[in-house]
Amino acid sequence: MTLPTINPTTTKAWKALSDHYNEFQDTSLQELFKQHPSRGEEFAIEWKNFYVDYSKQRINNTTINLLVDLAKETGLERAIKSYFDGDAINVTENRAVLHTALRAPASQTIQLDNKDIVADVHAVKQKMKTFCDKVINGELKGHTGKAFDTIVNIGIGGSDLGPVMVTEALEFYKNHLKLHFVSNVDGDHIHQCLKKIDPETTLFVVVSKTFSTQETLSNANTAREWFFKNAPQEAVAKHFVAVSSNIKNVTEFGIAEDTIFPLWDWVGGRFSLWSAVGLSIALSVGFKNFEALLEGAHEMDEHFRTTPFEKNIPVILGLLTIWYNNFFEAESEAVIPYSQYLHRLPAYLQQGIMESNGKSVDRNGEKITYQTGSIIWGEPGTNAQHAFFQLLHQGTKLIPAEFIGFKKSLFNDQDHQDKLMANFFAQTEALMNGKSEEQVRRELKNKKHTQEEIDKLTPFKIFEGNNPTTTILIEQLTPKSLGQLIALYEQRIFVQGIVWNIYSYDQWGVELGKQLASFIASEIKSEEILHHDSSTNALLRKYLE
Ligand code: F6P
Repeated sequence: MTLPTINPTTTKAWKALSDHYNEFQDTSLQELFKQHPSRGEEFAIEWKNFYVDYSKQRINNTTINLLVDLAKETGLERAIKSYFDGDAINVTENRAVLHTALRAPASQTIQLDNKDIVADVHAVKQKMKTFCDKVINGELKGHTGKAFDTIVNIGIGGSDLGPVMVTEALEFYKNHLKLHFVSNVDGDHIHQCLKKIDPETTLFVVVSKTFSTQETLSNANTAREWFFKNAPQEAVAKHFVAVSSNIKNVTEFGIAEDTIFPLWDWVGGRFSLWSAVGLSIALSVGFKNFEALLEGAHEMDEHFRTTPFEKNIPVILGLLTIWYNNFFEAESEAVIPYSQYLHRLPAYLQQGIMESNGKSVDRNGEKITYQTGSIIWGEPGTNAQHAFFQLLHQGTKLIPAEFIGFKKSLFNDQDHQDKLMANFFAQTEALMNGKSEEQVRRELKNKKHTQEEIDKLTPFKIFEGNNPTTTILIEQLTPKSLGQLIALYEQRIFVQGIVWNIYSYDQWGVELGKQLASFIASEIKSEEILHHDSSTNALLRKYLE
């Protein structure tokens, strides 16, 4: 089955949403709470250890009903089935999109080209488990007989961001292995890392689905040259392993076939941390925790696949993005995790969301006339409060923000946790309610300011409020809840892509820059600048001076 190809703006629901928006746009959150004091409970979804409150969004029941109608009219139900069934929904690359199969339990079967891919997935998982156990317990040794104590993951994009984000998020669960990630083709990145490590005790995990990515190959080659300075050629096979679907290129690099961890063309780079791409995660926190991560993601997949849209977290949150993006014309969304462990989550989501849904041609091959993919950004709270929150509170832009917090901390320091969470709750309340002129004047009067001072200062101290937020409150940061959270975002990407009538699983937009870079690299090498625009020509000449 193919995906529906419905232009969302031609649906009845879109028209109704436009009319609804015209009537509703000026209704403030304060008014909505006054009209329906219980909306806090009404617009919330409780699922397992998640409590998702979207009542501080500029919506009412009509909004949600119409957004759900939009999802239905654009064929989301049928699309979800196609996706989980393994239809080739990544049409421009003629591939299925089955990262969901990577976290399916062994008891499930998913047929692709008359083959049960779940069995393949579990065979690779078993290979990962055996390998990880041996590295962690020191059974597997380097060429001089020393156990490994350092892992260097070399990869970029999906072969880096997921593992980095997850290993940072799960640092609490980490074992003794030191972990480094090298991604940038900027040589300072790899050399800074090589300075810190010991070739005798380092295991390099080279992660590249294609094994043709310039950055990863350059870094892997540099690491290998550095390694040869202290070790014989044949030792490479002991210190370098790979995660790739390009077996030929990997073996040519010198990596032994039995230490290649495969992945399949139905796993997109930015959705691949659940595959062998997550090897450094499993090495860092142990295979049991890696499995718990997968289990959490599978639970979210099941929630997404089987729950009616009105109570379906990825569907509701995905539709809210559409409400702001396409009707309020909000350009960006902030993601603010109130957990230092999640400091790389916004960067990870930038690839997931923006590489997937930053598209301007629809599934009919037509140029799109409405907005797609929103801009994602964020930093952990409370640090973010001391950085960009000023703009959220008093700036001129509408920025829906998502607050992610945990009820329990990991080190059980209740004093810190209560302060952190007090900020977490205070910020969404402040963003919603703001501070009125009357309040400001009263406060200034109480502080004994003169009337003249009060008149002068008041305009600057008013907060208009009415800034929409969603709060995701989770029991505790564990491998399982992290898996649930990441899968929630993955499924939202799908929802939005379907409604926007775009293909979310290709990324042709990253190709042009890559092509030009390789062309310019050869010009730099030969010091012969050919035909560019006058700006690029001048810059290149300056560089070569
Ligand atoms: O940025 C483009 C991209 O193709 C990503 O989608 C992918 O995650 C990354 O490059 C790395 O690709 P590979 O794993 O093949 O090296």
